[in-house]
Amino acid sequence: MIATLSRMWLTRSLKPFRFTNDYDRKLHYINSSNLGLYVHIPFCKSICNFCPYCKEIYTKEKCDRYIDSLIDEINYVCGDTKEKKKITSLYFGGGTPALAVDRLNDIIEVLNKYFEITDGIGVELHPENVCDSTLSILRKIGVTKISIGIQSFQDKFLDILGRGKFDYSNMLNSLKKYKFDTVSMDFIFALPDQTIDDLKKDIEMAFSNGANHIAVYPFIDFDFTKSNVKAMTKREKRKLLDEITLYCEKKGYHRDSIWTFAKEKNAKYSSMTRDNFLGFGCSATTVLDEQFKINTFSVEDYINRIADKDMATSLTIRFTKRQRMLYYLFWTAYTTRINKKNFESFFGVSLKRMYGFELLIGKMVGFFTEDDDEYKMTLKGAFYYHHYENYYTLAYIDKMWGIMRDVAFPEKIEL
Ligand SMILES: C[S@@+](CC[C@H](N)C(=O)[O-])C[C@H]1O[C@@H](n2cnc3c(N)ncnc32)[C@H](O)[C@@H]1O
Ligand code: SF4
Repeated sequence: MIATLSRMWLTRSLKPFRFTNDYDRKLHYINSSNLGLYVHIPFCKSICNFCPYCKEIYTKEKCDRYIDSLIDEINYVCGDTKEKKKITSLYFGGGTPALAVDRLNDIIEVLNKYFEITDGIGVELHPENVCDSTLSILRKIGVTKISIGIQSFQDKFLDILGRGKFDYSNMLNSLKKYKFDTVSMDFIFALPDQTIDDLKKDIEMAFSNGANHIAVYPFIDFDFTKSNVKAMTKREKRKLLDEITLYCEKKGYHRDSIWTFAKEKNAKYSSMTRDNFLGFGCSATTVLDEQFKINTFSVEDYINRIADKDMATSLTIRFTKRQRMLYYLFWTAYTTRINKKNFESFFGVSLKRMYGFELLIGKMVGFFTEDDDEYKMTLKGAFYYHHYENYYTLAYIDKMWGIMRDVAFPEKIEL
């Protein structure tokens, strides 16, 4: 209800977000500004029951067939490119991309035919992957950022998440030997009985053992996952989020998004906060100036579509101008800042002209402050953004991914 009403208000329309199975055979990305790339590897050794992402159990045979299709998809989407396009960064996510570590370079090489990557390459890792052999390959193929899904260093929380105990000594030794520009570690907060002291221990453990960036995500209880973890109340979550933020700020860790903090200013890891991006692989999202499209969640159907020399697109939405603005503002606000000039150069109209009233109210209730260049979120604003994001995730992502996990190519979804 909240997500629907705010969508109507901010898009000035009753029109829902309408995704249909009608898709473009050619993607026009050549003139898209600030373009990033994302590649999805949907395989894991075992499945964590709290995790909503598109993945299945790894087998070498299926993973190899999948990577062959990925390479074909990239050639199919980008084959007409006349000259290399400059793009920001390339991120490999999953799933567990390191299960295909020997093939990542094949993917990078084919992308290098079409793009010039200016801000580096990132890979998501499971702690089990953080070993000498994998890190040395990643370094060799030009990976500059890694993000490790720790979730917690403490047995009791790993137990709650159903992950079981983990011995981190091997991982910590390898991190000393192999250096990356960004070493980010992911944690989940708002788990039952978790306190700020538990989180402080995890944060310090990360920063004193090779991480220069952390992501502290609130636990989200997706309807379609089989998790038995009970989510915290809104009040408890807010208290923890405020405590984490104040703690990190006091320690001098720079907040670079709602849930991420950097110990060194240039450490960055974010595959979502980019103006435009091309996604390859199952469940990968592509966002271009006027459209958002998402590939099928089914590995087998993905492979078949690509074998038919067709796009693996499952659903597409063609944004109205206001819908695109809302999407832009939502993800830009994730960085806790909205730059006025960037908005104007992206849309050709000033932010104040489009959302002057909302910005005024937001300032009056203390959600953000304004200077000549930007709007900056306050602690209160960050909490309410986080709260709204939770509604958005449950109202939109939960519903969409829930359907797409069951049906490879749904006819339409309205949100
Ligand atoms: C694709 S996963 C991470 C990569 C790797 N496969 C791993 O498990 O370590 C990305 C991150 O999303 C976060 N995540 C997964 N499920 C979540 C949930 N239900 N609520 C909040 N965060 C979640 C976790 O912190 C996880 O590390
Ligand atoms: S959390 Fe990571 S390892 Fe676990 S199922 Fe999700 S992607 Fe796989």
